[in-house]
Amino acid sequence: MPESVEFQLNGQPCHWPLDDQMLLLDALRQEGCQGTRFGCGLGQCGACTVQVNGQAVQSCDTRLWQVRHASVVTVEALHGDVPHPLLQAFEQEQAGQCGYCLTGILMSAKALLEHNPNPTDTEIRKALDGNLCRCGSHLRILRAVKRAAAQLRAA
Ligand code: FES
Ligand code: FES
Repeated sequence: MPESVEFQLNGQPCHWPLDDQMLLLDALRQEGCQGTRFGCGLGQCGACTVQVNGQAVQSCDTRLWQVRHASVVTVEALHGDVPHPLLQAFEQEQAGQCGYCLTGILMSAKALLEHNPNPTDTEIRKALDGNLCRCGSHLRILRAVKRAAAQLRAA
């Protein structure tokens, strides 16, 4: 029986045949999580960011075998029964232009707010340092993360 890689994907068990070269990004997209985007493929833009055991991780820079037995969360999880406040905050602040960077930014922001519910501007900038936005929406993104943080603290 071939070896496999088991992990949790958005709370559901997921199994893949072991392939040393398979990237987490490719497996996720083939699983239908196409909000996880391919940007640079070099670990430099953040478009492919997901959470692995709560940490923001660039899935283009992660082999599938590295997430064995881990919990992987993609942007699709933000659209649950109750949408994550980050979604509304990004919409209210009109934080996206082309939107290509946003799914990765949302995941970096989600990981930040789970560890730090009241981040300073500097802490938000540092957490999003690995996420590029070619449209220059950085200030609106910053405001959206602060708005979501306030909504989460008030909930
Ligand atoms: S596509 Fe992964 S960091 Fe750019
Ligand atoms: S909104 Fe276009 S790259 Fe960020």
